[in-house]
Amino acid sequence: MTVILREIVDSDLPIFFQHQQDQGAVHMAAFTSKDPADEAAFNAHWAKIRALDGVINRSIEVDGKLAGHVASFEMFGERNVTYWIGREFWGQGVATAALRELLNIDATRPIYGRAAKDNSGSIRVLEKCGFVFVMEDKGFANARQAEIAEVVLKLD
Ligand SMILES: CC(C)(COP(=O)(O)OP(=O)(O)OC[C@H]1O[C@@H](n2cnc3c(N)ncnc32)[C@H](O)[C@@H]1OP(=O)(O)O)[C@@H](O)C(=O)NCCC(=O)NCCS
Repeated sequence: MTVILREIVDSDLPIFFQHQQDQGAVHMAAFTSKDPADEAAFNAHWAKIRALDGVINRSIEVDGKLAGHVASFEMFGERNVTYWIGREFWGQGVATAALRELLNIDATRPIYGRAAKDNSGSIRVLEKCGFVFVMEDKGFANARQAEIAEVVLKLD
């Protein structure tokens, strides 16, 4: 299996939109947009983040197939990473390989990752890439309509 990152192209967006129609994945990620089914809001969000300087967004390809995306961006004055993999590609090390590659592209350190405290898959991805637990936080999770525990991990 070969995992590569490449620039995002317009035709990737409908696939990312499909990925966020996966209710289980949305629950897992928790800190999602208000309404993942709102395609206009999705398109507006992507138009905005693709135009921002300082956001590194990449599509993830597995053996030539689009599997998801990975990104780094500034939040509260800190560099953060995020990723989303389509369910058909889960459990094969794709997120870990993609995040490792992104960390080669973005050399900013420290760099942070946040996940819902119960998103063990995402936390494990961060740990496998060398991130360590820093603190627990709380935040309003749109997907759960509640304030939930969040963990913050850091890579120096
Ligand atoms: C979380 C997510 C990125 C994991 O992607 P993936 O490609 O399956 O992850 P990997 O195959 O690289 O797995 C890395 C590690 O996490 C573990 N893992 C993956 N999913 C898991 C899950 N649901 N529960 C527990 N462990 C999990 C794997 O076993 C592996 O650990 P190991 O090598 O010690 O066995 C993927 O499920 C996803 O995109 N979910 C929806 C969106 C999301 O939650 N994004 C992150 C927001 S913070």
